[in-house]
Amino acid sequence: MFQLTEEHLAVREAARQFAQNDLKPGVIERDSKMLYPKDEVKKMAELGFLGMMVSPEYGGGGMDTLSYVIAMEEISKVDNSCSVIMSVNNSLVCWGIETFGTEEQKRKYLPKLATGQWIGSFCLSEPEAGSDATSQRTTAEDMGDYYLLNGTKNWITNGGTSHVHLVMAQTHVDKGHRGINCLIVEADWEGVTIGAKEDKLGIRSSDTHTIMYSDVKVPKENRIGEDGFGFKFAMKTLSGGRIGIASQALGIAGGAFELSVAYAKQREAFGKPISQHQAISFKIADMATDIEAARLLVYRAAVLKDQHADYDQAAAMAKLFASSAAMKHTVEAVQIHGGYGFVKEYHVERLMRDAKITQIYEGTSEVQRIVISRNVLNGNLYV
Ligand code: CAA
Repeated sequence: MFQLTEEHLAVREAARQFAQNDLKPGVIERDSKMLYPKDEVKKMAELGFLGMMVSPEYGGGGMDTLSYVIAMEEISKVDNSCSVIMSVNNSLVCWGIETFGTEEQKRKYLPKLATGQWIGSFCLSEPEAGSDATSQRTTAEDMGDYYLLNGTKNWITNGGTSHVHLVMAQTHVDKGHRGINCLIVEADWEGVTIGAKEDKLGIRSSDTHTIMYSDVKVPKENRIGEDGFGFKFAMKTLSGGRIGIASQALGIAGGAFELSVAYAKQREAFGKPISQHQAISFKIADMATDIEAARLLVYRAAVLKDQHADYDQAAAMAKLFASSAAMKHTVEAVQIHGGYGFVKEYHVERLMRDAKITQIYEGTSEVQRIVISRNVLNGNLYV
């Protein structure tokens, strides 16, 4: 299904160097103090990680999805606040605008988003619409040449730092999800209010906020797609987003694995390195096997997307499996480290906290199972 090229290997090396040299030194402090990684995001922009798949015509790197997931994997081994910022900007915001936006929207927004001068947010979730995303209460009233936007969005990654919001809102209530639109909203427009930063279990330095929209005037030319295309836009975009989060989970598991192997080889107990005890070596074998399986699922979903094949089911499977592997094996990594695993200095407790969100955002594990089972029951027994 795929063969890594010289370019993919170069991306992996660049991302690894950046993660280990630039992200690792300050990651514990940023996590514990909830400090937004401002300098690190700037560096990610300079290195081209914020618009990897955007075509060069609009200021991006013109790379394939496989390159993007390889970079996500390496960065997620170290700093998942940075990798979620990267993921939302690349696979939800830039990809969504480039794939479904008008030429005018692409020219106006992509060059800034792809180069990291601006950051984007994807605003679908609401206080009472999480997994049940069709139940949008935010409204976009059609006022002729503009929409009047009112409502509240929750758990918005990049909420306090983004310049551009892709906001899903209901225009035609009688049409249900077919009456939802996606609007491009600029954060400094009148009526946009950013709530307090959330104090989270993991990915603590990423910028998660509630956003309130009160009588915000959105020009009609900022609607993405036909009238009522918003829910399909969200679903299609989220399928690609799930490949990004799956690669984040893969990186979390891989980071915990690399730390565990190194620790198990140097830590001695009962007269030999703990890696020589079967209780530990079996854990390492299980980790290695699950990570390899997760990598195959994630890379395959990326390749299917690049081939313009149907990737909804493959993306859901990759996210379901990789996030479960991340959760399971970060717990095991803490166990392998014993008491040291429970303190911040050894990094694995942070990875364990970060792993949990990969089973929740961009669709919970239960949502992925809905997507997979519907595909299977509709006749797609295999991807
Ligand atoms: N592509 C295109 N259209 C799709 C689609 C897809 N992948 N999936 C569904 N649709 C369409 C369906 O065809 C249907 O349209 P029609 O009625 O016109 O045929 C419509 O969408 C509704 O689909 P369903 O009937 O399947 O909808 P449902 O109510 O049963 O819900 C769901 C399905 C899979 C549970 C969906 O609601 C869902 O994915 N929920 C989770 C939402 C989510 O992932 N939120 C994450 C928030 S964003 C985030 O986390 C970003 C961040 O900041 C990190």
